[in-house]
Amino acid sequence: MDLKKAILVTGGAGYIGSHVSLYCIKKGHRVIILDNYSQGQELLSFPALVIKGDYGDPVLLATLFSTYAIQSVIHCGASTHAALSMADPLSYYDNNVSKTVILLQQMVKHNVLKFVFSSSCAVYGNQESALLNEENPLRLVSSPYGKTKVMVEQILADCAHSYGIQFVSLRCFNAFGIEPGSGLKENHIPETHLIPLLWHTAYLKIPFYIFGTDYDTPDGTCIRDYVHVYDSASAHYKALEYLEKENPSDIFNIGMGKGWSVKEVIKAVELVTQQKIQTRDALRREGDPERLVADPFKAIHILGWKPVYSDLISGIASLLG
Ligand SMILES: NC(=O)c1ccc[n+]([C@@H]2O[C@H](COP(=O)([O-])OP(=O)(O)OC[C@H]3O[C@@H](n4cnc5c(N)ncnc54)[C@H](O)[C@@H]3O)[C@@H](O)[C@H]2O)c1
Repeated sequence: MDLKKAILVTGGAGYIGSHVSLYCIKKGHRVIILDNYSQGQELLSFPALVIKGDYGDPVLLATLFSTYAIQSVIHCGASTHAALSMADPLSYYDNNVSKTVILLQQMVKHNVLKFVFSSSCAVYGNQESALLNEENPLRLVSSPYGKTKVMVEQILADCAHSYGIQFVSLRCFNAFGIEPGSGLKENHIPETHLIPLLWHTAYLKIPFYIFGTDYDTPDGTCIRDYVHVYDSASAHYKALEYLEKENPSDIFNIGMGKGWSVKEVIKAVELVTQQKIQTRDALRREGDPERLVADPFKAIHILGWKPVYSDLISGIASLLG
């Protein structure tokens, strides 16, 4: 890759975007972060150009594309709460779809044609298969959030056909952990992700509500596939390398191929923190699929992705710093 050219990372102040930015910087790239700070963290002394702004602002984008030699865009920016998207779908369609169209228009206008998209396992919704691969039909998506990811993937396919955009869409499964020593954070308000919620609950000694204990799984709780955020970042970088080699646009699952139930994750957090977590059973939440576990074969064999955190316990321990 041409190290003189910059990578634009939208949502680069966010949890995954900041880890992706750091990974690219460590590989020798110049990174420009564009984040509107609707979520995210202050990036003090971070070795990137950090611009506070919106990826749906065409004037700002035109300035960025014409001022800096940007070779590619990694699009980590989005509204990300599936449950909130059920309450306010229009703001999700606006931020995740309409504004992404504006970003793509400006890319085409300025001949920046390489695009890595942080998609989501939410595109799969409820499925019968034990392991989800990229060929599973996307008919059963439950949340507007998941639908926005499906829509952007469809828009990208059209843009590849009509404007020569080359894209990789990464269907990321649940990210967790922190790159040790990075000083980066997971900072969602409100926090809805299981592991940071359990972490706080363990230390604050407040009850943890398990939403749904009557699913058709061995212990009755939902099952998810957890990928360390460092490995998610390396997958984004691998996707860029893949595009640089002029490979065809494609879609890849980023997951470990192993599922953990909510109750199993609770035990893992108890083990790492050495704190007992008080749990309470609660009703299922609308839109929560029973089981989401990736088949990561394609990412491993075609992208050459090699996750380093193969076990959940050591990944959770990365939160100790
Ligand atoms: N965290 C996960 O487990 C997970 C799983 C699957 C997919 N994803 C996807 O990965 C991406 C990053 O997720 P995350 O967990 O880091 O979320 P995050 O909320 O921490 O990061 C998203 C960042 O995007 C920024 N942003 C939102 N709208 C913007 C806009 N219009 N202009 C500029 N910046 C904007 C926010 O301020 C935030 O810093 C998202 O696309 C998300 O859908 C995340």
